[in-house]
Amino acid sequence: MDLAKLTNLLPRRMREQVDAYFEAVEVLAEIRDPRVLRSLGPAGLRGLILKRGKQGVPSKMPATHSAHFDWTYPADNPEMRELYRRAKQGQWDGERDLDWGMDVDPLNPERALVPDSFVDFAALADKGVKLDYAEQRRFIHSITAWMLSQFLHGEQGALFAAAQVTEAVQFFDGKLYGATQVMDEGRHVEVFSRYLDDKLGKLYQVNDNLYVIIDALMADGRWDMKFLGMQIMVEGLALGAFGTLYRQTQEPLLKSLLKAVIQDEARHVHYGVLALREHIKVELSERERREREDWAFEVALLMRNRFMAYEVYEEWFEGSMTRAQWRSIITTLPGMQDFRRVMFTRLVPNLREIGLLTPRILPHYDRVGLLQYMDGASADQLTAESMIAELDRAA
Ligand SMILES: [Fe+2]
Ligand SMILES: [Fe+2]
Repeated sequence: MDLAKLTNLLPRRMREQVDAYFEAVEVLAEIRDPRVLRSLGPAGLRGLILKRGKQGVPSKMPATHSAHFDWTYPADNPEMRELYRRAKQGQWDGERDLDWGMDVDPLNPERALVPDSFVDFAALADKGVKLDYAEQRRFIHSITAWMLSQFLHGEQGALFAAAQVTEAVQFFDGKLYGATQVMDEGRHVEVFSRYLDDKLGKLYQVNDNLYVIIDALMADGRWDMKFLGMQIMVEGLALGAFGTLYRQTQEPLLKSLLKAVIQDEARHVHYGVLALREHIKVELSERERREREDWAFEVALLMRNRFMAYEVYEEWFEGSMTRAQWRSIITTLPGMQDFRRVMFTRLVPNLREIGLLTPRILPHYDRVGLLQYMDGASADQLTAESMIAELDRAA
């Protein structure tokens, strides 16, 4: 049966609905490991089909995990203690340390949120999307507000996950460090939310795929899955996205905000690598390790393929082009390609470092073109300063 022909017979609105369902089914059908499907499937249903993230507030998610107490307060991990020390010294105040008095005009090309090369309007016109100058300015505003909205939603997830992980982790030094991360994430929610509200005047709903990842992590009672999902995958994604935007933006307030956030996030990913490296290599059985290895690959794919900015599509082009046409546009935007590259430069070496890139899974990474990032430096070998310096060099 030719599904494309069949759906073409449907009225346009219904056709788009069917496309959305097929896409959701495709995401879940790609998952080969049944244990991974059990972990991501229910969250996938809630996020992609029921669209729970778009059903108004509040979104309630059951979160279960064991809180790990230790009444002897051991000094049990010098590297984590050192991170705790650095985190205390690195605290900043989102209210005092950023220049909120600065005038931000999201439509000003002199201080563009992202340069036109992020979108490549000439290439868009070749695909039949012809925007006049005023529309181009508004489109840049939309796409930046969309990215920052997803950062903000991700930061809310990171705030809750950091709190849960602080309770659940077995290292006492990790708990002290975790307290600083909870504060960091709270500050990130504060500054992104304020920037969107005061300066861009726009907030987009949570992207369905991001919702799926957050939902799956909240519901999973295993602390190391929360760690892997939040500290390695989502934080890796965040670092990639922040790095791309930091490098490209010409708006000074956004640039200084991102620089401050990146410095915190570098510690977060470092912590994730420290905590998981030992746990995965020493504590887990081979069967358990494999499950994490498969899970990480599936989530990496979800992140690579699935941030389609449909929320922007619905605002701009619903009715004038199909979702399939939009997909081909959004995946080839130069800015989005850059974002994927920076994200995997950060993520893949961390997966290697914690023992989730064994020869067993490498052919799969190779197949989807991610093996090229294998030899990069992992978070424990990078400092916040070296990360920023690298981004500045490439700018
Ligand atoms: Fe954060
Ligand atoms: Fe973080």
